[in-house]
Amino acid sequence: RMLKRQMACRGDIHRLNAPFLAIYESLIPPEEERTKQKQLLALLEKLVCKEWPKAQLFLYGSCANSFGVSKSDIDVCLVFNEDINDKSEILLKLADILQSDNLQNVQALTHARVPIVKLKDPATGISCDICINNVLAVVNTKLLRDYAKIDVRLRQLAFIVKHWAKSRGVNETYRGTLSSYAYVLMCIHFLQQCRPAILPCLQGMEKTYNVMVDNIECAYFDKVEQLSNFGSPNKETVAQLVWGFFNYWAYGHDYANSVISVRTGSIISKQEKDWTRRVGNDRHLICIEDPFEISHDLGRVVDKFSIRVLREEFERAADVIQYDPNPCVKLFAPYVH
Ligand code: CTP
Ligand code: MG
Repeated sequence: RMLKRQMACRGDIHRLNAPFLAIYESLIPPEEERTKQKQLLALLEKLVCKEWPKAQLFLYGSCANSFGVSKSDIDVCLVFNEDINDKSEILLKLADILQSDNLQNVQALTHARVPIVKLKDPATGISCDICINNVLAVVNTKLLRDYAKIDVRLRQLAFIVKHWAKSRGVNETYRGTLSSYAYVLMCIHFLQQCRPAILPCLQGMEKTYNVMVDNIECAYFDKVEQLSNFGSPNKETVAQLVWGFFNYWAYGHDYANSVISVRTGSIISKQEKDWTRRVGNDRHLICIEDPFEISHDLGRVVDKFSIRVLREEFERAADVIQYDPNPCVKLFAPYVH
């Protein structure tokens, strides 16, 4: 049964192309949102600069990696050129500064896993989280953005997958399901391993970009304008790729032994990473290697209950696309687990 599924999707799969593309188009943020984000960033830069003239602000996450849908919050990172031992002190100071400039709902969350200041800008209506010295996130944001420039099908696939994950309630790390960042890496991996490949492995190529962050070498080929024809030998459409993606995670992936690795452009073994058993809270039930922080499994939030939810949702999605007469409605039907 599995083999048959892997070989053939429904013959009328192409009929799903137009509706998937319509969903993708409807989720793309309009240009005026970009303008407002820049406006808010400029305001924050002005305020921060007064207090810390040498600090810099960077956008990261979905507002900068090109996988952000309309009306998302923005993620900002405040970078000092030195190690900060006491982030709380800086965050409280920052909250103070922002508060006195009429920004709304300013809140310093100093005890969060990633300590941040939250705020809302009344002028643009945008909410924003500011963290400190999270340079790896700024760098992995660039990696995702660079992958997105190579073939538009990555962005199309990832928008559909993120939209599905949010609708189905499986994009909640605090409840044991996966982050948006993890889903985008799963999409990149899928497009690297299909044949002919739609995406290359940028970290396996000549290193035209190279930075050291927290003692980790972050290096890869970033002249991606040169790769704009890379995926063209593969003619698959977004409908086929969405089907292939869910089929891969439902019936094709070896959960017991495999780690997906965008860094190497392939599958590596759990054995090789020593991710074969639970260590502390890391259970390694679905293994997604971070491209730079390679000791970091983005599936570590998944527990023995949520792995079942996830795998059932992958199977449901694959089956809906395969058999349902109206898959586009059913696939995104809101659900709370
Ligand atoms: N990030 C990370 N490691 C994680 C999770 C997130 O480095 N385990 C960083 C990544 O740079 C990511 C950013 O934090 O781009 C934001 O993560 P997330 O909220 O998962 O992704 P977004 O792209 O912002 O998605 P959404 O549209 O759902 O906000
Ligand atoms: Mg985000």
